Amino acid sequence: MSTHNVWTHKGTFLLAAVGSAVGLGNLWRFPYLTGENGGGAFILIYALTIFAVGIPILIAETMLGRASRRSPIMGMRFLIRTHKTSRAWESIGWLGAAAAFLILSFYSVIAGWAIHYTWQMLTGSLVGADAATIGAGFDALLASPGLLTLYHTLFIIASGLIVGLGIHRGIESGLRIMMPALFVILLVVLGYGIANGDFGAAASFLFTFNLADLSLEGWLQAMGQSFFTLSLGMGAIMAYGAYMSSEASLSRTAFAVAFVDTAVAMVAGLAIFSLVFGAGLDAGAGPGLMFVTLPLAFAEMPFGALIGGVFFILVLGAAISSSISLIEPVAAFLVERFDLTRPQAVFAMVVASWALGLLTVMSFNMWAEASPFHTLFGRSAFDFIELLTNIFMPLGGLLIALFAGWALTHSEAMKEMRTSETWFQVWRFLVRFVAPAAVAFVFLRTIPQVEGYLIPAVGALVIVGAFAAGRTFLAENSQQQ
Ligand code: PHE
Repeated sequence: MSTHNVWTHKGTFLLAAVGSAVGLGNLWRFPYLTGENGGGAFILIYALTIFAVGIPILIAETMLGRASRRSPIMGMRFLIRTHKTSRAWESIGWLGAAAAFLILSFYSVIAGWAIHYTWQMLTGSLVGADAATIGAGFDALLASPGLLTLYHTLFIIASGLIVGLGIHRGIESGLRIMMPALFVILLVVLGYGIANGDFGAAASFLFTFNLADLSLEGWLQAMGQSFFTLSLGMGAIMAYGAYMSSEASLSRTAFAVAFVDTAVAMVAGLAIFSLVFGAGLDAGAGPGLMFVTLPLAFAEMPFGALIGGVFFILVLGAAISSSISLIEPVAAFLVERFDLTRPQAVFAMVVASWALGLLTVMSFNMWAEASPFHTLFGRSAFDFIELLTNIFMPLGGLLIALFAGWALTHSEAMKEMRTSETWFQVWRFLVRFVAPAAVAFVFLRTIPQVEGYLIPAVGALVIVGAFAAGRTFLAENSQQQ
């Protein structure tokens, strides 16, 4: 069994984690879910989960990766063996692999839309277009399964090639330039939105909240989004943590990742909603929100075709640096477990995810209104897969928190954290009690209402988790006697 090499530079993990975290989740998913859920209340739950639950779990997940120095599934096996705890904890790895596979399937389809808009911008075909024209163009894109599949295929091949050839670790130098550049263009769009849109309406939409406005599914989506945007609870961060240098600070890195990630989402949200309210567009437009508002700004602003073209290229860069972190944990597992070569492992993962992605493609056209999914689950395949990720990621995070909080001994966890005892206790309290309770609260409150048939499934998973936690607890206590 191989143990990993370690990234020699202390800041490499930070860059890789920011590359994973910042992506379509910030630019596309955050604004669209916020718009669908009426604004402020959604953001409140999202922000609360990032800080009280997300950051502690981010530390915990990195810790498990660094302590095991293996891919998530093999890493959990290793930790289970060395801590004599229940095999059930392996579910952390499996759940993560399942989530990665589901997320990649639709992530690649949406990233494909950015390929389309890169092309549209650079050819200048949208210069001077009005909102109606741009909206119609987007609808035409969605109506074409062939085009969507083409872009989806291109994106997933590019991601697979990067991981398969093992050059993703060389990509960090690119990120060092692309991430700040993306942020600068977002600021330019925000500036344009302030000058020409309705910034006041955007700010009050995003920052005044009334919790009673948030639907139950909105609660689940807000929590799911905070995990999604931090790449949390599915092994991506654990896989990167396996390469993290032992010197780098866990807590400082986690805060930095969460801060950068939230800043990008907020600037994107303010820019997009300034334009939405300024142009009288629909805030609840759904998954197309970013793709109908930003091109409108680029159509009107000076040098818009060029700025827009660069912007969408940077969006693609941010999406690729996230999608490779979805492939990495699964590929590393296949390599470690089945002795596949790296390219073979990546090929297997990517082909399976690509095929599943066709369901998302069809959710926007042939199967938009009626499909076997609508009959079975009352929603499209895309919506159903998103719902599953909103459940899998927090569930994975819950288990990670419990494992790091209860199975790792004080000295082990402290050795990783290397902070003052007070901070350590704060962190441990958060992962032992607060994070699990918060996730359980949202699950219990929402899932029974959202999808009745999911109760038995999630219930069973939670019982397995609780059982595993109980056995660990007993094992730990009996060791101490
Ligand atoms: N965090 C990424 C984004 O916001 C998505 C992602 C989720 C990437 C899970 C890896 C793992 O776009």
